[in-house]
Amino acid sequence: MPLHSDLQQLMDLSGKVAVISGAASGIGKAIAKTLADAGAISIVLDIDRAKGRKAEKEIRSGEGQAFFFHCDVSSSAECQKVVEQIIDEFKHIDILVNNAGVIFRKDSVELDEEEWDKTLNVGLKGVYLLSQQVIPHMSSQHKGSIINIGSGWSFQGGPKAVSYCAAKGGVLNMTRAMAIDHGQQNIRVNCVCPGDIDTPLLESEAQQLGLDYGEYLKEAGERPLARVGTPEDVAKAVLFFASDLSPWVTGAHLAVDGGGTA
Ligand SMILES: NC(=O)c1ccc[n+]([C@@H]2O[C@H](COP(=O)([O-])OP(=O)(O)OC[C@H]3O[C@@H](n4cnc5c(N)ncnc54)[C@H](O)[C@@H]3O)[C@@H](O)[C@H]2O)c1
Repeated sequence: MPLHSDLQQLMDLSGKVAVISGAASGIGKAIAKTLADAGAISIVLDIDRAKGRKAEKEIRSGEGQAFFFHCDVSSSAECQKVVEQIIDEFKHIDILVNNAGVIFRKDSVELDEEEWDKTLNVGLKGVYLLSQQVIPHMSSQHKGSIINIGSGWSFQGGPKAVSYCAAKGGVLNMTRAMAIDHGQQNIRVNCVCPGDIDTPLLESEAQQLGLDYGEYLKEAGERPLARVGTPEDVAKAVLFFASDLSPWVTGAHLAVDGGGTA
């Protein structure tokens, strides 16, 4: 079946090196697994060593190749060091997924300055710091795909999430700015904006709001496609942007939210 094999080729990431931040858990882990299943070498970046090594092992237990590296994306020194290590070992980086993020479910009065700084430093500055290190390597091979993980709250406000909404709004507009700056180097930059996805982060949101997680999931599932999302739902959209299925798509965003923001 020629069409089938052509499509397979477009999705094939064999020989590519994909770096995914915050890949020890939830959405990042599913992205690392999906990209590895498509043939890429997935580099699992995270601050959590134990969970990072576990994710590496889980991905390797299938067909995929994965390697864990410790990195706090809010530290420029750590981003610089880890990218040097990856280049030393794997020679190139073809795909970067800026996924690491944290959330505090608080309004402007409740939130303290440290929490504001942490949300912005991990979720927004981290995108800049890691991209800054990776882009020169993509540029030298005149090809690359960067996928930033935004949120439905990149283009809508949400209750008690003021620093998170600021970070995610920034991630989406920064995606467009990066796409403009680096198109000439054939680096595509796109944003995937998930709705509620069943991960430890979502569970912590329920906890922070003092709500039962089961009830929270039930309410979050009230949307056109009548369920909360899975990390794999998001990973499939990332595969689209990471692969040659989207060669002329840059500066774009895709809501993966079961119609929650429709
Ligand atoms: N779960 C949802 O409903 C949802 C919805 C929209 C957007 N998102 C976004 O998706 C991304 C992944 O979220 P998730 O739900 O999988 O969360 P998660 O908490 O399951 O995973 C986040 C990972 O990021 C890591 N991390 C935190 N700070 C870090 C740092 N400084 N450096 C490196 N790694 C760090 C954590 O250790 C963790 O492994 C986040 O950007 C989040 O904002 C999630």
